[in-house]
Amino acid sequence: MSDDETVEEYLFKIVIIGDSAVGKSNLLSRFARNEFKAHSKATIGVEFQTQSVEIDGKEVKAQIWDTAGQERFRAVTSAYYRGAFGALLVYDISRRATFDNVARWLDELNCKFYTLFHIVYHESKFAAHSDTTVARMLVGNKCDLENTREVSLDEGKSLAESEGLFFIETSALDSTNVWTAFEIVIREIY
Ligand code: GTP
Ligand code: MG
Repeated sequence: MSDDETVEEYLFKIVIIGDSAVGKSNLLSRFARNEFKAHSKATIGVEFQTQSVEIDGKEVKAQIWDTAGQERFRAVTSAYYRGAFGALLVYDISRRATFDNVARWLDELNCKFYTLFHIVYHESKFAAHSDTTVARMLVGNKCDLENTREVSLDEGKSLAESEGLFFIETSALDSTNVWTAFEIVIREIY
């Protein structure tokens, strides 16, 4: 194995997907820069940031792709799922429609990951990765909005359980569980 490949092993690509305005960009900016914007603009296409996390004394770099939730960008953003080893699927606990759409996002994700596994399996260079479990986390964001909650904690939990996903509720606004959410996914891939 060349040095290049050794380095590659520690750079993990993670995608953040989910409906528009659920807080994907703010989760990432909270995680990567400890920033929150009360009036953030909708993401156009895809943006990414890298953040290093120390896992078991080793530095692991995560390259996190923040995708646009708006329907009109769907064709563009889904192209970026390829090569991702982790995914955060985000909904807004104060808007049930965003939770109802989780199944749709999951279908899209499963389809892309299935393709990925085939590619991985057939490229001997990545053979060591062929049995890698893709880490997928269902994220109920905006848990600070308890007063206007439309999706209960239990509903989130049971959906995650039935789909085999990790689950967490977060708040990009007050930082609740943001670091933990990313860390669980990164740790699982690693
Ligand atoms: P797209 O880029 O269109 O897909 O949206 P997005 O999912 O990236 O949403 P974004 O991060 O831009 O946040 C949308 C709105 O929700 C903004 O006004 C944020 O300030 C707000 N927001 C994000 N996270 C939270 C949160 O945890 N709590 C509360 N109360 N508001 C949040
Ligand atoms: Mg965004």
